[in-house]
Amino acid sequence: MIVPAKVLFEHAYGNYALGAYNINNAEQTMGLFRGCIASSAPFIIQISKGARKYTDKRMLEGIIRSAEEIFPDAVFAVHLDHGDEETAHDCIESGFYSSVMIDASHEPFKENAAITRRVADHAHSKGISVEAELGQLGGVEEDIKVDEKNVCLTDPNEAKEFIAASGADSLACAIGTSHGAYKFSGGQGLHFDRITAIQAAIPGVPLVMHGSSSVPQDEVARINAAGGQLKEGAKGVDPEQYLPAAKLGVCKVNIDTDGRLVWTRVHREFFKDKPAEFDFRPVGKVFMDEYALFIASRNKYLGSAGTLDAVRAHAKKVLGL
Ligand code: 13P
Repeated sequence: MIVPAKVLFEHAYGNYALGAYNINNAEQTMGLFRGCIASSAPFIIQISKGARKYTDKRMLEGIIRSAEEIFPDAVFAVHLDHGDEETAHDCIESGFYSSVMIDASHEPFKENAAITRRVADHAHSKGISVEAELGQLGGVEEDIKVDEKNVCLTDPNEAKEFIAASGADSLACAIGTSHGAYKFSGGQGLHFDRITAIQAAIPGVPLVMHGSSSVPQDEVARINAAGGQLKEGAKGVDPEQYLPAAKLGVCKVNIDTDGRLVWTRVHREFFKDKPAEFDFRPVGKVFMDEYALFIASRNKYLGSAGTLDAVRAHAKKVLGL
């Protein structure tokens, strides 16, 4: 059942966070749904601009609609990840998305707020929620690259002014994470004091944590042992920090890189062990199983595991179903 993101946030707020997982193809979609059903968790499917272009945006929509039929118990929202203004308006018009992100965080404050306001006005007229971003995360996410020197944590006072000016429903904040596989080189982690201060400035507004992959070191080591050349030693977010962040108002935790690492590890190891193999289905099946296990494990850290029946009951009540 596809539901408005708002309905999921209402249930999660202050208790647990929803995993927001990026998908690009049928295998990821199957693994995601299986993992969420196995762990009884609601979730958010994220579609990036790159994912929309990878095959065709209608292909992904078809895959997700099919998954909704195959897994009638699933409760989830469909979200545009890191949209520009044109893509956000397109997704709002499509009637398929529950929520869109407009990412104008690279613009000056006033311009960011003005762009977000235009998207929010359009989205709200169709009952769709808007996620905006304030502050700058480091790292690489598709065509967005932010150098270390330009990283800046979200200012709580600005957050208050921004929400009032932009009409955004949830706010992606820079609270110490970065995108991609190379995040923290040392012992850095989340800035819990900053999350607390932002939430105090905008009570009730769900916060979103981008760049939340944990970049498991054993995963990186296995990829490299099977022929990969990933830089070792760079850590991601400790998944034990997801739930404490959720209790402070982080309702959505974005995870993409870790899923790519699962894909890379499975495929590298499979073809290393079976060099004569050329059928992609056996390895695809291994990937779907492994991705489902990974998703279920993340949902446990997020605290969303085990909440599916309660979320469905809440959604049916508020949607009058
Ligand atoms: P990761 O690169 O840490 O997986 O973050 C993904 C993300 O924030 C997508 O918006």
